[in-house]
Amino acid sequence: MKITVVGAGNVGATCADVLAYREIANEVVLVDIKEGFAEGKALDIWQKSPINLYDTRTIGVTNDYTKTAGSDVVVITSGLPRKPGMTRDDLIETNAGIVKTVTENVIKHSPEAIIIIVSNPLDVMTYQAHLISKKSRNKVMGMAGILDTARYRAFLAEALDVSPKDIQAVLMGGHGDTMVPLPRYTTVGGIPVTELIDEDSLNKIVERTKVGGGELVKLMGTSAWYAPGSAAAQMAEAIVRDQKRVFPVCVKLEGEYGIDNCYLGVPVILGKNGIEKIIELDLSKDEMELLKTSEKHVREVMEVLDKLN
Ligand code: NAI
Ligand code: 2OP
Repeated sequence: MKITVVGAGNVGATCADVLAYREIANEVVLVDIKEGFAEGKALDIWQKSPINLYDTRTIGVTNDYTKTAGSDVVVITSGLPRKPGMTRDDLIETNAGIVKTVTENVIKHSPEAIIIIVSNPLDVMTYQAHLISKKSRNKVMGMAGILDTARYRAFLAEALDVSPKDIQAVLMGGHGDTMVPLPRYTTVGGIPVTELIDEDSLNKIVERTKVGGGELVKLMGTSAWYAPGSAAAQMAEAIVRDQKRVFPVCVKLEGEYGIDNCYLGVPVILGKNGIEKIIELDLSKDEMELLKTSEKHVREVMEVLDKLN
């Protein structure tokens, strides 16, 4: 198995590192536009292999897509991250151009690859990659839901003083402040979370999750990378190992949830064919309203991209 990661910055390098030390692929190719940057990161990860005991080969290249040929999965992280005071949507102009060029190069050399987008604004960059690649919707997807859900699970684990391993949850909607957490579907070791925490504390955790990305941007002056890089690697793993994992993933909706032609996070089954099934939950009226608000926001940014294109 061969996985390419485009963008050797914070998220891309973390993703490549996780893919390597967990031996998710035999070969991981890291690509960046900055001369020598990907080569250096890939070499560093390779030199860690005798210490951490893995044999995945990591190779870095400067914009040379011939080395990515025949990739099974390509993770696209190239693009500007946000700085304090910026929203994810502020990145659209620059990142749309980057995602366009990168996707063109990727499909030229790996026409069969399944593409995972990480670049922001996530839902609309997934739309961009879909427009450019013209692949079926099960082969172009965006990573956000695993990250947002992980933040929510980590906050809950802290509040309840339990292991994050035992918290199961799902979030839906766009990757932004309009994301839709679903406490009704959150369990702790199989116990509904509502039996373990009061409503007010749970609502505070939900609100903190919605701005979880912004909290880290304020602290670090740039956006997060450990959890995002690991989340993208987890999606790639589900695909190359045909694990049939159930994750919230950004995908083009074609009538599911009564929504057509819009890119939103929904629970899916991920396996060797990419998105193998979209799971349609029976949402309450309030949950559906939140999802519609998220749809409205994503559509507005999709229209900005349509004008740019
Ligand atoms: P970074 O600045 O550390 O890395 C981005 C890398 O992309 C840089 O090394 C840059 O040289 C490279 N790059 C730029 N144009 C390129 C091109 N045409 N071809 C190849 N490489 C190119 O940024 P970071 O922190 O890694 O974030 C990357 C993106 O991921 C940002 O757009 C950020 O907003 C997004 N992000 C998305 C998350 C999500 O949940 N979907 C979570 C965290 C970040
Ligand atoms: C995050 O949520 C900025 O999208 C990035 O960390």
